[in-house]
Amino acid sequence: MTGSEIRQKFLDYFEKNGHKVVHSSPLLPANDPTLLFINAGMNQFKDVFLGNEKRDYARAVSSQKCIRAGGKHNDLDEVGKTARHHTFFEMLGNFSFGDYFKKEAIAYAWDFLVNELGLDTERLWFTVFEGDDVVGPDDEARELWIEVGAKPERILGFGKKDNFWQMGDTGPCGPCSEIHYYMGDDPANNLAKWVNGEGDTTVEIWNLVFMQYNRTQNDDGTFTLTPLPAPSVDTGMGLERITAVMQGVKSNYNTDLIKPLVDFAAKLA
Ligand code: SER
Repeated sequence: MTGSEIRQKFLDYFEKNGHKVVHSSPLLPANDPTLLFINAGMNQFKDVFLGNEKRDYARAVSSQKCIRAGGKHNDLDEVGKTARHHTFFEMLGNFSFGDYFKKEAIAYAWDFLVNELGLDTERLWFTVFEGDDVVGPDDEARELWIEVGAKPERILGFGKKDNFWQMGDTGPCGPCSEIHYYMGDDPANNLAKWVNGEGDTTVEIWNLVFMQYNRTQNDDGTFTLTPLPAPSVDTGMGLERITAVMQGVKSNYNTDLIKPLVDFAAKLA
C-alpha cells in the first residue's frame, strides 16, 4: 500500500463511521498566539474542545500537516539520530467533540489497525496513564484494551511525560493511551523494555488522547486543570510511521512518501 492509499483508507474508514472529513489546516495557526507552527491535528479544533465554538458535526477526521521544530513538541533534536523523526509530518486523526469517548476510540483504533490494515497483534503494545497526584490511573483504558483483544501483558503504565498529552503550556489536555509497534526481526527481542525505550526497535504509531481538561495559567505562574464542557477524543497517528510499518521498511525515510525526495536530492548532489 502506498502512503497515499493509507491516508485515504484512514479517512474513508472514519467517514464510514460517521466522521466529517476535514481538510488539513495551513501550517501557520490562523488565530492562536500560543503556537508558532501547527503541531497536532487537534489544533484547528481547540476552540471546539473548549466549548467556545460550535460546528455542525461532533466527529471529525483529518490528515493534518504538522511541524515540530520548537515549543512543547520539538522533534528537531532527534532528526538525523532516529529513523522516525523528521520535523514535518502528517498526522492522521479522528476526533470526537463531546460525542464518543474512550470505549469507541479504543475500539476504532483496534479495528482499523488489526482488521483494516491487517497488523500482526503479536507486534502491538499499548500504554496507559498510571496516574499522578491530580489525575488517577487510567484503569478504564487498560480494561478496554483487554476487551477489544489486547493481551494484558502487552499493556504498560507510564507517567505524565509519556501518557498525559497537552498541546502547550495551556489549552485542552488529558490522559492518553499510545499504540506501539515492534519493528524488529527476532520475535525473542519483542520486549517491554523497548516501549518508550532506546532506539527504533519499538515505535509509537498512534496516540489516543482522552481530552478532559483545559490547562490555564494563574497570575502566580501556577497552572490549573478545569474539566472541559464534555469529555472528548483527539487521536494522532504518524502517517510516515504507519507507512513504514505497512511497507516493511525500518525507517520513515525509506517509505514512498520520503524516499523519492531523498533520491532526487541525491541525484542533484
Ligand atoms: N494530539 C495528540 C498528539 O499530538 C494526538 O493527536 O499526539
